[in-house]
Amino acid sequence: MDEIKNKFWAVGGGKGGVGKSIVALMTGVSLARLGNKVILLDADLGGSNLHTLVGIQYPQYTLADFISKKVGSLEEVIMSTPVDNLKIICGADDILGMANPKYAQKNRLLNNMKKLNADFIILDLGAGTSFTTVDFFLYAPNKIVVLTPQITSIQNAYGFIKASLFRHLNDVFGKDEQAIELIKRACAPAEGETIDSIGKLFDAFLTLGGEHQDKLLNCINELKIKMIINMVRNVRERNVGRIVQSVAKNYLGLEIEDMGIVQFDNVLNASINNMAGFLSSNLRKSESYAYTNFYDIACNIMKGCNWQSAAPVKTEL
Ligand SMILES: Nc1ncnc2c1ncn2[C@@H]1O[C@H](COP(=O)(O)OP(=O)(O)OP(=O)(O)O)[C@@H](O)[C@H]1O
Ligand SMILES: [Mg+2]
Repeated sequence: MDEIKNKFWAVGGGKGGVGKSIVALMTGVSLARLGNKVILLDADLGGSNLHTLVGIQYPQYTLADFISKKVGSLEEVIMSTPVDNLKIICGADDILGMANPKYAQKNRLLNNMKKLNADFIILDLGAGTSFTTVDFFLYAPNKIVVLTPQITSIQNAYGFIKASLFRHLNDVFGKDEQAIELIKRACAPAEGETIDSIGKLFDAFLTLGGEHQDKLLNCINELKIKMIINMVRNVRERNVGRIVQSVAKNYLGLEIEDMGIVQFDNVLNASINNMAGFLSSNLRKSESYAYTNFYDIACNIMKGCNWQSAAPVKTEL
């Protein structure tokens, strides 16, 4: 059980272009360089491009081969990357409705993911709050929301967290019509609606019985979401995470764990068109601030999983 708990990490965030793929990739690279077996899984089913970032122009195998049952197991679509210990499952282009796989296809994928042999499996999610994206996010015990200091990114990160919580509540309360009715009201409160936060939903659940309140509290407590602020340029920007934390606490009752920041990094940004070259270079000696941040994050992930890790590098803005 612990193995599954430590193994799956999903990187989402609602907004496009905030660096979800970079965070998934660079965290994976750092974990791999620290001696872990890592698989990156491009779960951006509508707009996959993680393979490009690891220097694969035309993937020989993709998730589409697995989803369309061309191959029997997920193992068969794993490909190597320029980084030792780091493998990738390339995403599927949006053909044959891959962005919205059917329920059975999704379940087959999730079941096969469990069988993958790796220390860490990192899911790179697409932008937006589609059910498929949110379901992948909810599936992974370790959930990272990536945002940048921009106000629109903060809003979308909050929207993504909220969508995840309400999708989870809908799953848990499924056939309980009275509860679902109240959950719907709290999710999209109309003007004048009194149930406009999780706190108010909790109060309203009292009319349905104490066990409803317990179940709601459970849902909130088990949804552990972490965040990374990416593209930070100064100390003021570093603090935007507090806005997300306080709004998520006040309206959704969720404690969002701060995993740290990644600085805006010209070296990384300039290397996007040749990430394979960037990854093959001696990153510790390069002047990439972001790489140092990702190394810290990877060390903390290993510590959190009680695995031995190298001493984290101190980074200052
Ligand atoms: N820390 C950083 N410093 C500088 N530039 C960055 C940083 N992180 C990401 N970028 C830039 O932002 C761009 C978008 O990053 P990325 O593709 O990871 O975003 P995304 O959230 O995955 O986007 P999408 O929603 O389209 O999948 C990158 O191509 C890179 O140029
Ligand atoms: Mg991406």
